[in-house]
Amino acid sequence: MEVFSRVVKIQLPNYLKSLPVPATIGGFMKLSGNEWVQLVPFVVTTSVVVYLVVSALLPSKPPKKPDEDWVNKSIQKDKEKVADIIEIEDLGDKTVYCRCWKSKKFPFCDGSHNSHNKETGDNVGPLVLKRAAPSS
Ligand code: FES
Repeated sequence: MEVFSRVVKIQLPNYLKSLPVPATIGGFMKLSGNEWVQLVPFVVTTSVVVYLVVSALLPSKPPKKPDEDWVNKSIQKDKEKVADIIEIEDLGDKTVYCRCWKSKKFPFCDGSHNSHNKETGDNVGPLVLKRAAPSS
């Protein structure tokens, strides 16, 4: 602890006093090359400390919030893109796909578009794939 105290109370103030910091902004233009070299460790260290403190205090990425412009507000938001592949052989006689992005069974329609339409006055509905009746 004595070492830390000595650094903070004696060595650091002495080091800061020795830096060729001009009294005015224009004074920086008059610094010699050696004076600039003297400032480099202080400026680099201060910049790194400020960067680390600011980085620690700010979240790295702002959390994603549902945006009014987004069509998809809740489905598989952890993915870069929501895409589904369904084999034609697996379709059956009739398959109903969601196009409103409100279904809890996405990509299949669960009827959520009805309440969405009622609440908003929208007119979205599902995509219905239906096998054609065999012609006779
Ligand atoms: S639930 Fe989305 S279209 Fe039916």
